[in-house]
Amino acid sequence: MCGIIGYVGTDRGDDALEVLLDGLSQLEYRGYDSAGVALADGGIDVHKREGELAALEAALPRERFDGDSIGIGHTRWSTHGPPSDANAHPHTDATERVAVVHNGIIENYQSLRDDLAAAGITFQSDTDTEVVPHLIGRSLDEGLDHEAAFRAAIDRLEGSYAIAAVFDGTETVYAARHESPLVLGVADDGHFLASDVPAFIEYTDQVIYLADGEFARLTPDDLVITDANGQVTDPSVETIAWDPEDAGKSGYDHYMRKEINEQPTALRECFRGRLDELTGRVELPELGDLEPRRPVTFVACGTSYHAAMFGTRLLQDRGVPAQAFLASEFDADRVPIDAESLVVGVTQSGETADTMRAIREANSVGATTVAVTNVVGSSAARETDDVLYIRAGPEISVAATKTFASQQAALTMLAAALSDQRSRALVRELRAVPDQIQSVLDASRAREIAETYHGAEAYFFIGRGYHYPVALEGALKMKEITYTHAEGFAAGELKHGPLALVSEETPVFAVVTGDGKLAEKTIGNVKEVEARGTPVVAVTDGQSDVERYADHVLEVPATSAVASSIVANVQLQLVAYWTAHELGRSIDKPRNLAKSVTVE
Ligand code: AGP
Ligand code: GLU
Repeated sequence: MCGIIGYVGTDRGDDALEVLLDGLSQLEYRGYDSAGVALADGGIDVHKREGELAALEAALPRERFDGDSIGIGHTRWSTHGPPSDANAHPHTDATERVAVVHNGIIENYQSLRDDLAAAGITFQSDTDTEVVPHLIGRSLDEGLDHEAAFRAAIDRLEGSYAIAAVFDGTETVYAARHESPLVLGVADDGHFLASDVPAFIEYTDQVIYLADGEFARLTPDDLVITDANGQVTDPSVETIAWDPEDAGKSGYDHYMRKEINEQPTALRECFRGRLDELTGRVELPELGDLEPRRPVTFVACGTSYHAAMFGTRLLQDRGVPAQAFLASEFDADRVPIDAESLVVGVTQSGETADTMRAIREANSVGATTVAVTNVVGSSAARETDDVLYIRAGPEISVAATKTFASQQAALTMLAAALSDQRSRALVRELRAVPDQIQSVLDASRAREIAETYHGAEAYFFIGRGYHYPVALEGALKMKEITYTHAEGFAAGELKHGPLALVSEETPVFAVVTGDGKLAEKTIGNVKEVEARGTPVVAVTDGQSDVERYADHVLEVPATSAVASSIVANVQLQLVAYWTAHELGRSIDKPRNLAKSVTVE
């Protein structure tokens, strides 16, 4: 998510403001909704603005910072509190002795905020982050020095964070991280820190990756890294071979590839603080007091609609009546919803016009509305009664990938909450998904499949149960980025028409996991295809004998049907990606499509 930059330069170093702004512009690719800087030179000077970096630059009294060589900067991608000037980072304590930037989510911020508020502290923002400068400020009041106050604050945090802090009247930047990226840069004329190397590669290619739990103290001439116990470590300095030109996407050719690879991290963020392994409960306090077991109507478009279909089945399987509508087909006059109904809009962007219209219609009949969205402060978040954020981090590629996985994960938790389900098995299965996806990413043979079949006439995808929406999503990804005809079917429907289309030129991808009845039936459908000489690619966990009828296998780890749907989809994303790559398509910006569709 978003970006951090920090710089401490020597007298010969560069102007901090230029370094920070350059760095932030190099981090723009990560996506953000606001930006800010704090310069420290005999006082702390904070400037921050909602919107693009240009808005911040226009508001900066640049002359004032000539010669300043210490500062931190941030591009925010909101998770707590909508994008606004006040919520943008850096945040300070009440008397501006310290300024802090943060990437990530502080899980226990509410209890910290309550404690601080009880001690008389007034908050200026809605963010989780603002507890950090106030915690530091209180320790300073108690007489701790800067470093001790910084460490004491970090010790109280739970969650994910990369944090940098700068203090009034010093030439030092302190940093710490836990499960959010932070890399340090070493140059002759100063030291850098950032969320990612491109932020400072123009100035140095000598980097140190800070490990989880480590602290760093950066001064113009010195860089000291300590572990959680305060012991000084001996870090290894690596030389980065990236060309600044390539660095924008963290070394990936396309955002889509980067975002596919970010799925383990995205899902960990989605689950963070929401799964209780001991009780098997899913904790979603953001849903307020929604009473469980009331009928649910989903509205969504495209990929989000596939996630909504997945959510529908999850609820139905738990005895809760549920239905999913394509938002563009939803009509509150026709669909029996009323003040007793619960309508859930699933929308990555939170701005899709069709979905917003459906949500507004549901609001107008008095239904309770919930948004399942990725974008804090989006229209969907603002115009619904409750919001469940999927926390996937910014998604730049037009083709949705990590947000689909995060929607599946969020809807699985939503279904457990709305059906009052407690299941330690479910919690365990969900927790295992990020590692399972990682294993798929590490070993996938999707590229070979793409090399073999990128000349195909069309592609078909089949699946049953939880794998049916995955088949639809596999086909949507393929058509979006390869411009080749692709269709997904419920496996049982094949023989009711689509079978007429299959030939040697139309590979069929079958998602088959487990060895139950659904797997058996899908294998029956695979045989129907295979008998017609059609190449079959099975996405399977090896529990059934589908491999006997398939020409190729894309493996996924064995788990439940729900969890394996999330993992199996990753194989199909990779097939679509590598096929588009073979065909030389414009992967991140496919023709005729937009990331956010704001017309009906
Ligand atoms: C997905 O790859 C597509 N770009 C598209 O179908 C998308 O899912 C749809 O437009 C809905 O967008 P939303 O989730 O932002 O509402
Ligand atoms: N959780 C913080 C916020 O909402 C930081 C978000 C980020 O990583 O940019 O302000």
